[in-house]
Amino acid sequence: MVAARITVNGKETPISPAAPHTTALDFLRERGLTGTKEGCAEGECGACSVLVARPGVNKPTDWVAVNACLVPVAALDGQEVITSEGLATAGESGAPAALHPVQEEMAVRGGSQCGYCTPGFICSMASEYYRPDRCAHPDSADGPDTGTGTDTEHGPNGFDLHALSGNLCRCTGYRPIRDAAFAVGTPTANDPLAQRREQSPPEPVCTEYTRDDSTFLRPGTLAEALQLLRERTDAVVVAGSTDWGVEVNIRSRRANCVIAVDRLPELREMRVESDHIEIGAAQTLTEIERRLDGSVPLLAGLFPQFASRLIRNSATLGGNLGTGSPIGDSPPVLLALEASVVLADADGEREVPLCDYFTGYRQSVRRPGELIRAVRIPLPLSPVTAFHKIAKRRFDDISSVAIAFALDIEDGFVRKARIGLGGVAATPIRALATEAALEGKPWAAKTVEAASQVLQAQGTPMDDHRASAGYRSAMLGQSLLKLYAQTTEAVSS
Ligand code: FES
Ligand code: FES
Repeated sequence: MVAARITVNGKETPISPAAPHTTALDFLRERGLTGTKEGCAEGECGACSVLVARPGVNKPTDWVAVNACLVPVAALDGQEVITSEGLATAGESGAPAALHPVQEEMAVRGGSQCGYCTPGFICSMASEYYRPDRCAHPDSADGPDTGTGTDTEHGPNGFDLHALSGNLCRCTGYRPIRDAAFAVGTPTANDPLAQRREQSPPEPVCTEYTRDDSTFLRPGTLAEALQLLRERTDAVVVAGSTDWGVEVNIRSRRANCVIAVDRLPELREMRVESDHIEIGAAQTLTEIERRLDGSVPLLAGLFPQFASRLIRNSATLGGNLGTGSPIGDSPPVLLALEASVVLADADGEREVPLCDYFTGYRQSVRRPGELIRAVRIPLPLSPVTAFHKIAKRRFDDISSVAIAFALDIEDGFVRKARIGLGGVAATPIRALATEAALEGKPWAAKTVEAASQVLQAQGTPMDDHRASAGYRSAMLGQSLLKLYAQTTEAVSS
């Protein structure tokens, strides 16, 4: 097996002697690439953002921004990384000869003061700069026909501000940063990173990287992964490491063995069949969002509210279900969609409805040695859907309460209601009593008001630092009233 190595700014670098739990952030900084900063070490500030070459959705390769504080450097074995230092064009002496267009716009528009956050913003912005399907956006509120456009979240250049939802700045104020983002042009034909998108991405590499008593393993196939899981009962399974990275950094947790499954081909498929959609458990949320392209509206409503773009570039549905958190954002949506989970082990597969999957706080029916291979969403989809997330911040926050609705309303009557709830019990739950209170009834104010009282009493919400139990219950009831108002507004407008 070839020694683990990573290509940083075009230069191949051995990973050794870093420990298997060493983050890409620490690895880069220890090698002098100190543009990459640590702000929080838990995926919330974006100061550590770097670009990674990944399989593309619309081109062979995408430049994807990720949180270097969360990903172990061993997970990048064989991969290509660009830091803020690698974006400028190098001069003969190694000093920058020219700023990257994104850096230039940030500089001239006053997008940086103390500069601590700037390299992270630059990498997130560069990822969006190179997004292949970014194009002129005539509906931008800042567009050439300013005053007619209504979209405040896209620039006239198509720049999606959500690309920066994982980056925080404490001093500049976001207006100059937004100005810089909305001013960047398109990459020139001889831009080396734009050209790199046309070639195949780096292949996943089978990795066995051991230091002291700790090992990072990346198997090449699902069968190998399942065999390893059977043998290494102490193993921690990771995909994007957005959860495990926090455990390592903040809680100082260490594992004897980490098994990475995020590049297993069997976990990266997306299949649309006549009666269901199957989503590979290791596709990132960004990949799912772009591949589905709005065809599952409830998921399309979830994605912008799920953490930040930086997190969605690494996080997976399998990971969100695997951690079993009662405040994960995908379970309420998947419960409302009546999704099921395909579990695989070395002996075969079984399919479990998600409503039967969670058994207790961070517990599930998944057995030792089993891996979530895919999530299946039955078709057809219910036409009336909504995802309401109540949190302290609009983006990049944890839910106090999350509610997902999927309703079939025909001839003014609720034929079917599926409601998923997060943040109101030890597990994500279905609001069965509310569903029963709606089904067969007219979709009318009287029904909805009565059902909102039922919904308000569902679950066993707690008081904690995010919200009181009373607030959580009140939000449940309000959520159904809001959905009703939205549907009746849609009909009358
Ligand atoms: Fe804050 Fe990585 S250091 S997101
Ligand atoms: Fe100081 Fe952003 S410029 S934190």
